[in-house]
Amino acid sequence: MDKNPVFPEALIDALRTSRHVCVLSGSGISAESGVPTFREAQTGLWEKFDPHELATPEAFLRDPELIWRWYRWRRQLVAKVEPNAGHRALVDLASQVREFTLITQNVDGLHQRAGSDSVIEFHGNIFEDRCFVEGCIVKDASDVSSAVPTCPACGGQLRPGVVWFGEAIPEDALDKAMAAASSCDLFFSIGTSSLVWPAAGLAETAREAGATIVEVNPNPTPLSNMSDFCLSGNAGTVLPDLVSRLLVPELRA
Ligand code: APR
Repeated sequence: MDKNPVFPEALIDALRTSRHVCVLSGSGISAESGVPTFREAQTGLWEKFDPHELATPEAFLRDPELIWRWYRWRRQLVAKVEPNAGHRALVDLASQVREFTLITQNVDGLHQRAGSDSVIEFHGNIFEDRCFVEGCIVKDASDVSSAVPTCPACGGQLRPGVVWFGEAIPEDALDKAMAAASSCDLFFSIGTSSLVWPAAGLAETAREAGATIVEVNPNPTPLSNMSDFCLSGNAGTVLPDLVSRLLVPELRA
């Protein structure tokens, strides 16, 4: 196996000279930790359910117990896995550049567990509870083990603190992500199919503002043709190699 793949010199130069690197990650970066991507997430008991039909406010209203059973299953799955080399390489990358912003569509918290800070959680966090009525994050639900926990403040039903299909992105996350995308000079899209909006539009915002676009993905996506560099491969291999190339000048091809 090639341990020191050749990255384009122009990409290494762009990284070394960049003012602000912005990364958008998707479920592909957690795949090597053992978290199935959202579209593959249905196994065992949940095989017969379509995630697009479970991850909606309408589904919660129809059957909150079912939705809680699904999210509890996903929570225990995510709690058992560990961050991988791709997550860790982004921690190293952050320490090598002047300004770094990490935006993730993932709700698994693995970037934070790897050591990334100030992560912008575009789609929320699976371990948080949110009041379905008031929308506030609830830290102290007392009846967490009941089929549908309730808000200690208003008594309304609690839901998982994630963004479901058809829902708005949390305002703070959207503002920060848009600001980073429009001010960075290097934008990485890592492990995302670039199909789900508005996250998919962040790369376009960055490109229109003049940033260089880099995609890391083993498969082509709608962003590939608009990217300046497509690094084809798994994030857990490509990212550590890229960062080591940045750190050790003698690895230059
Ligand atoms: N390294 C990098 N990319 C990978 C890897 C890997 N090891 N394995 C898979 N991929 C890529 C796939 O080729 C695919 O393009 O990750 C992407 C996963 O795509 P999706 O399952 O569509 O995940 P994502 O883009 O994160 O979905 C966005 O949609 O379902 C909603 O809210 C959910 O946050 C999610 C959003």
